[in-house]
Amino acid sequence: MKATLMLLSVLLCATFHLSFSFIDGLVANGNFELGPKPWALNGSVVTGGSHAIPEWEISGFVEYIKSGQKQGDMLLVVPEGAFAVRLGNEASIKQRINVIKGMYYSITLMVARTCAQEERLNISIAPDFGVIPIQTLYTSSGWDPIAYSFKAESNVAELVIHNPGVEEDPACGPLIDSVALRTLYPPRPTNKNILKNGGFEEGPYVFPNTSWGVLIPPNIEDSHSPLPAWMVESLKAVRYIDSAHFSVPQGTRAVELVAGKESAIAQVARTVPGKTYVLSFAVGDASNSCEGSMIVEAYAGKDTLKVPYESKGKGGFKRAALKFVAVSPRTRVMFLSTFYTMRSDDFSSLCGPVVDDVKLLSLRRP
Ligand SMILES: *[C@@H]1O[C@H](CO)[C@@H](O)[C@H](O)[C@H]1NC(C)=O
Ligand SMILES: *[C@@H]1O[C@H](CO)[C@@H](O)[C@H](O)[C@H]1NC(C)=O
Ligand SMILES: *[C@@H]1O[C@H](CO)[C@@H](O)[C@H](O)[C@H]1NC(C)=O
Repeated sequence: MKATLMLLSVLLCATFHLSFSFIDGLVANGNFELGPKPWALNGSVVTGGSHAIPEWEISGFVEYIKSGQKQGDMLLVVPEGAFAVRLGNEASIKQRINVIKGMYYSITLMVARTCAQEERLNISIAPDFGVIPIQTLYTSSGWDPIAYSFKAESNVAELVIHNPGVEEDPACGPLIDSVALRTLYPPRPTNKNILKNGGFEEGPYVFPNTSWGVLIPPNIEDSHSPLPAWMVESLKAVRYIDSAHFSVPQGTRAVELVAGKESAIAQVARTVPGKTYVLSFAVGDASNSCEGSMIVEAYAGKDTLKVPYESKGKGGFKRAALKFVAVSPRTRVMFLSTFYTMRSDDFSSLCGPVVDDVKLLSLRRP
């Protein structure tokens, strides 16, 4: 009897391992705390070949950066642990990750710009790639956690992080730290909400120890969004925030519109022309010293509602609703912030109003 049970549990364990190939969190040596052997480094430059950094395959001019290292007058700060990497011109780091074919995943990584004003990263998981601008306008530390997502086309995902830039100084280029992965479960509409993921509860991995949220970069298609069902339109990112570090109107996650009219979140809903609908949502502040008069503009097709919100930067929210008659079988729902706002405790960090708990319902008796 005991033996049978043992065998059973061994079998169960085996199946468990097969079906759960990845647990959300850092990828192997995702924080680069395991570094090259001393002989594989010349100063900070990794010279020991493509496998010098454990778990990663590197190519080109890659530097292994220790916290506190200086570059000119600039102190290079490492956001987590004591080490990070820097990708010089055309340099890349690569790792193969076991995933499940057909599932959606989101990658969160911390990046910082160093010399160039406009640095970019090409994050790819074949056959997809995304070129993400690194602007560092969002956190005073200079480090921004950014998210990218993909659908696994096979059971092994080859993640490549590449600096496509060519600067005069090969030692320029983005710093990378803390590469994490999370499985996404794209939500479905319910009879309580025509919109999907209206509370933003499903989204990218948020580092438990950082209070910066995660940036969802612009120009992401909804089929591959790290914020499932939502698109980030226009030029700049939106910030995904968690209730452990911010004030969130409902549930444990929300979105902060950090780039004024330059960034918007949108979703296209199925609607019946001639029917009346109500788009309801919460507008608030993240309790991150983002103070002042804010306005969130909500759009449902051609109808719009401007919701003013006076923020004291200490958290809080109000609810608003936009009633409209659908004019087509698809209605685009969109939110943006009218103004730019800077944190009152840090004039180099953009912030803005929070949107959460977005619901779209048809009215039976308008
Ligand atoms: C280390 O780098 C310096 C400067 O680029 C170079 O002069 C030197 O030859 C390198 N040392 C080794 C052992 O490769
Ligand atoms: C980004 O990387 C992918 C895969 O390595 C490549 O096919 C694509 O051309 C790159 N795009 C840019 C703009 O560098
Ligand atoms: C997270 O923060 C706690 C408390 O500040 C610290 O003890 C711990 O080492 C941190 N963990 C990581 C992974 O940085």
